[in-house]
Amino acid sequence: METKTDVLLGLQWGDEGKGKIVDVLTPHYDIVARFQGGPNAGHTIEFGSKKFVLHTIPSGIFNKNTINVIGNGVLIDPFILDSEIESIRTSGVDVFKNILVSRKAHLILPTHRLLDAVYEKAKGKDKIGSTLKGIGPAYTDKAARKGLRTGDLDQADFEQRYQKIRSQHLKIVSLYQVDFRDIAIEGIPFEAYEKSWLEKLAVLQQFEKTDSEYFLNDALAKGKKILAEGAQGSMLDIDFGAYPFVTSSSTTSAGVCSGLGIPPSKVGRVFGIFKAYCTRVGSGPFPTELFDQTGEELRKKGHEFGATTGRPRRCGWLDLPALKYAIMLNGVTELKIMKADVLSGFPKVKVATQYKINGQLTETVPFDPERIEAEPEYRTFEGWDEPLNEISRFDDLPQQLRKYIQFIEKETGIPIQLVSVGPNREETIVR
Ligand code: GDP
Ligand code: IMO
Ligand code: MG
Repeated sequence: METKTDVLLGLQWGDEGKGKIVDVLTPHYDIVARFQGGPNAGHTIEFGSKKFVLHTIPSGIFNKNTINVIGNGVLIDPFILDSEIESIRTSGVDVFKNILVSRKAHLILPTHRLLDAVYEKAKGKDKIGSTLKGIGPAYTDKAARKGLRTGDLDQADFEQRYQKIRSQHLKIVSLYQVDFRDIAIEGIPFEAYEKSWLEKLAVLQQFEKTDSEYFLNDALAKGKKILAEGAQGSMLDIDFGAYPFVTSSSTTSAGVCSGLGIPPSKVGRVFGIFKAYCTRVGSGPFPTELFDQTGEELRKKGHEFGATTGRPRRCGWLDLPALKYAIMLNGVTELKIMKADVLSGFPKVKVATQYKINGQLTETVPFDPERIEAEPEYRTFEGWDEPLNEISRFDDLPQQLRKYIQFIEKETGIPIQLVSVGPNREETIVR
């Protein structure tokens, strides 16, 4: 019987714990597919005493019966992909057998990384806080119809096309009065980095390349189960995030259709995941951000440092208007709350229920929250002291936390059917 694709995506500013939950859900799926973003993502998976961080490889990789697809909407950097392969080698998975790469996925070229660095530097205090993985420039070239795709590697004129776009990029860099030889990428001077990048193309060529839209639609027709794995978060979406402090892809469920070639009628359940509080890495508006000791505590207890860049994440209370906005945009059918354990020990837990803008209360996320002052109105809950990571039944959670969860369910109208109480696979409560 024909099936539909389920989707799991982050409802906040990324790093909600998508990697962990995709890994937890993978045994129920035949295929896990990434549909957008690129190595700006850092998805952490922990089981036993092992910890892995994935950037391009879908988080279904640790189940040997699951096929992992890197869809057409994803950007691939062979240098980073190679380092990921190395980092998971100890786990014993056969990456070349279990991963399919779309021929239509675009490449991040070394000069995209140069451009990202140059543009970001030129923005000065208005910088986006990009991960500098070349995401913006590579999606720009895709839209400008001059990007290179993995399928182009098999064409005789690849080298020629590469040189052409490279020299265009270097001209742009020179306009910024920067000598490209002075820029280091991944800690390596540009020319040495580029040499290594070109060598890693051979690694990318070892993967089976497919027209993944055919592969996925055929799989659905045969009754196979597919899980689409989001990267970043809804509040970083190119259209719906606080532009320009966004990433360059459609991070919402709409991205599944364009990023995998799956029609809207074949999208099934939409799992929205969010932290019990909020974090953001990089610049841009964050109405509930805490600049005090409580924010510092959240960062410390939640180990809130970027999985891709190591940067400290900004921390604050849960923002319900933003959460409701993301639920609306994605058509979320089920919620999963993450890192509830981090809130243990806080005397009070707060949640923003509305914003005050020019003296008026509203639940609407403003057009330009950077310039329009949105002051959160909070509802305060009693905290709890018990550690949660050994609890396995919802009913055994502290009553104060259950109250907090029930409040979010009532406000959003969506059931919370999973509570995550630790980074490990096992530390997961399914209701
Ligand atoms: P992703 O980008 O959405 O996959 O999330 P990241 O991996 O960037 O960040 C989530 C971090 O929180 C990782 O270090 C996870 O190991 C960790 N984590 C995930 N779920 C939980 C949880 O329920 N509790 C705690 N304490 N940590 C968690
Ligand atoms: P995962 O998938 C958190 C943020 C960057 C920056 C903005 C633009 O791990 O949740 P970019 O590199 O795309 O030009 O950066 O988006 N950002 C993320 N923040 N998690 C991510 O991915 C992110 N990917 C990009 O910090 O503010
Ligand atoms: Mg992450």
